[in-house]
Amino acid sequence: MFFGRKRKADELAQIKGGSMPVHIGIIMDGNGRWAQRQGLPRMAGHRAGMDAINRCLEGLKNLDVKYLTLFAFSTENWRRPKAEVDYLMNLPGQFVARELDNLMANNIRLRILGDVRGLPAHTQEAVAEGIKATAGNSGLTLTFAINYGAREEIIRAARQVGLECKRGLLDPGDIDGTSFESYLYTRGMPDPDLIIRTSGELRISNFLLWQIAYSELCFLDILWPDFSELDLYRAIADFQHRQRRYGGI
Ligand code: FPP
Repeated sequence: MFFGRKRKADELAQIKGGSMPVHIGIIMDGNGRWAQRQGLPRMAGHRAGMDAINRCLEGLKNLDVKYLTLFAFSTENWRRPKAEVDYLMNLPGQFVARELDNLMANNIRLRILGDVRGLPAHTQEAVAEGIKATAGNSGLTLTFAINYGAREEIIRAARQVGLECKRGLLDPGDIDGTSFESYLYTRGMPDPDLIIRTSGELRISNFLLWQIAYSELCFLDILWPDFSELDLYRAIADFQHRQRRYGGI
């Protein structure tokens, strides 16, 4: 225990001296496998995944990271058994009920990315309550991507751009990267500097495809419910060793 704490403190001291990612995105993967390995139902993995979110927030308290975006439910996750989908749809409400005091105490603002109208009413209400209560906070922005798919996000933006062109409000010649971004769910947010995916899978799974063009990718061979503050600090340390050139030399 002592050595664990010391390693965490050492790692933290190390990364504090380096360049900090402004925006971290996380694909929280491996809840089901974690549960299976413990001989538990998949839902137990998602419950343990909630604790990992809190460890991550705890770790970020000590750092100057401005945005944390967590992939909580993809547009493809509706294909899961109804009982699991229902369970996952209750988690935002549980999170807001349990963590609102913590969010307020730590100046954290809650946001959501994705097609909110496709969520059950109780999920929409819980999320809206959390967003409203934390709207005035100015520290970390914690964003849950729920009912989110990057291709759907881009298509939706293209449709809106098309409509505005058709109505004569926009000239197609004026569309560039900056103006197009204002039609994405992430409007106003900086692109992620660092994307972390747990569970050992080496893919992006339709997460923030437009926004990660120049993000550094970090794949961890651990399951999300096992994710610790030390893992967060090590991923940031790894990020600090990368050379970001954005196509230059
Ligand atoms: C991926 O693991 C995880 C998910 C699809 C859900 C992640 C959600 C949480 C951790 C909680 C979300 C909380 C809030 C507040 C919105 P998996 O089930 O695909 O794992 P597997 O690949 O091992 O089966």
